[in-house]
Amino acid sequence: MKVVTFAGVSKRFDGGSHGYAVRNLDLHIGQGELVAVVGKTGCGKSTMFNLLIGLIAPTDGVIRVLGSNPFADFDALAGKIGVVFQNDRLLPWRSALDNVAYGLELRHVAKERRLAVGRDWLKRLGLEVHSEKYPHSLSGGMRQRVSIARAFATDPEILLCDEPFSALDELTGASLRSEFRRLVQETHKTGIFVTHSIGEAIDIGDRILVFCAPGHVAAEFAVPEALRELGEEGLKQRILDVMGGTGA
Ligand SMILES: Nc1ncnc2c1ncn2[C@@H]1O[C@H](COP(=O)(O)OP(=O)(O)OP(=O)(O)O)[C@@H](O)[C@H]1O
Ligand SMILES: [Mg+2]
Repeated sequence: MKVVTFAGVSKRFDGGSHGYAVRNLDLHIGQGELVAVVGKTGCGKSTMFNLLIGLIAPTDGVIRVLGSNPFADFDALAGKIGVVFQNDRLLPWRSALDNVAYGLELRHVAKERRLAVGRDWLKRLGLEVHSEKYPHSLSGGMRQRVSIARAFATDPEILLCDEPFSALDELTGASLRSEFRRLVQETHKTGIFVTHSIGEAIDIGDRILVFCAPGHVAAEFAVPEALRELGEEGLKQRILDVMGGTGA
């Protein structure tokens, strides 16, 4: 069974500029894959993301996430998808530790246990000395580390990121990318990473899906093979051609 399947999925917003934000999207992601989705602004990446987590319903087509329909069976997927957004979305009135433990609190995990799990994840992200601090006193990079810890803390099967590091400087972004990649691999999760940066997609993905508007997969690349065949610059150029092409 695939972890994520989109079959002929379309999403139309009334009054949207193209009408369709996603059109005829087919997507299949297997257990343990780390897939990067790259595409220009407005091509439908966040709409795909919102369909996947069941925040919105498709206009057409079938979506299955861990065997469930994410919109209709929203509760069935609770706690099974960990999400890291572009903006950290931490709760400002909670310490770093209480933010990380929040998902477990929602799942009624006993206090001692959720704080232990929260501390462990903060430690894995190098933040143990900051666990009692509040978001306003942490740097942007630290706050995104807390969001990553929070996403992993409920032990979800899928990790989903929507441009989580695009507001950070290049070095901090690169180090968080490699940590995220390592954690997904160590914990045998399935990762889906949305970005508009081609370099970031190559860095993080085992497989890259290139999105074009209105949201569909215009090309896909298996990263190690494509790097061997084309080299990094060659692969970047190929992806750029697809993103910029009109016929895709
Ligand atoms: N709620 C909405 N109502 C109307 N149109 C929408 C809505 N959400 C998205 N759209 C439109 O759908 C298209 C795809 O938007 P989406 O946010 O999915 O793009 P994106 O690839 O995530 O872009 P970015 O890289 O800028 O985040 C855009 O034309 C957008 O204006
Ligand atoms: Mg977006």
